[in-house]
Amino acid sequence: MDTFSWYAGENGANQKKNKSVPLCNLSNLQLRFLCPSDLEEVRALCRDWFPIAYPYAWYEDITSNPRFYSLAAIYNGVIIGLIVAEIKAYCNLNKEDRSILSSSYGKSATVAYMLSLGVCEEHRRNGIASLLLDNLVSHLTLSENRDCKALFLHVLTSNKPAILFYENRNFKLHSFLPYYYSIKGTRKDGFTYVLYLNGGHQPWALSNSVRYCREGTAENRYFKYNEKN
Ligand SMILES: CC(C)(COP(=O)(O)OP(=O)(O)OC[C@H]1O[C@@H](n2cnc3c(N)ncnc32)[C@H](O)[C@@H]1OP(=O)(O)O)[C@@H](O)C(=O)NCCC(=O)NCCS
Repeated sequence: MDTFSWYAGENGANQKKNKSVPLCNLSNLQLRFLCPSDLEEVRALCRDWFPIAYPYAWYEDITSNPRFYSLAAIYNGVIIGLIVAEIKAYCNLNKEDRSILSSSYGKSATVAYMLSLGVCEEHRRNGIASLLLDNLVSHLTLSENRDCKALFLHVLTSNKPAILFYENRNFKLHSFLPYYYSIKGTRKDGFTYVLYLNGGHQPWALSNSVRYCREGTAENRYFKYNEKN
């Protein structure tokens, strides 16, 4: 594990502000897939990271069903980060997500949906989420997954760190989803972000309808959509 290029040491030129816990021993950092015995640990983490309450069956699924690409970053034997994604047939997407891809790709096209990405607070801004995402993207760009044309996700419009993270990692804002989330009984707006893969692209006709969303920086968008709250 000593070949990770994302790590900037204590005296590195790229040392980041607000870095709370530098990962100074990379030999203690591992990536591995989740297994059923991780369920309670993952559940506790997700309750801490996300405002959404997932059903128990969701945790059973992501820790045991091989249909999910559920990868954990382990530091000193403890899960400190997690990414979960699933490849779906394009024709099985929900209506609001169909406009992600051009229909010209045909019935064999698939897209990957990122269900979850989180890192323990004390380990954030250390490149852990980037490492997990890089691993997922490497998997999705294997020749066996060449039909997978996009990786997409939904994010709360109020989640500034996540929005900045995805934009920093070349995800493009695809759509605005008013009242998409229900959080403790209150409806909250969401965004869809997409990273095109394996030669994928959005339908050409869509560009105009979302252009207004894409103007300006991520910070501007964040404030634009949250100034009303
Ligand atoms: C979003 C999240 C996964 C990022 O994890 P992370 O390990 O801190 O991300 P990385 O260290 O790989 O960050 C890479 C880049 O993302 C951006 N970024 C991440 N967190 C940021 C923050 N709090 N403020 C500004 N930019 C941020 C930066 O551009 C950063 O690069 P930099 O550190 O060189 O400036 C993490 O903040 C998190 O777990 N949040 C809670 C759960 C969540 O909201 N998940 C997303 C659900 S859609």
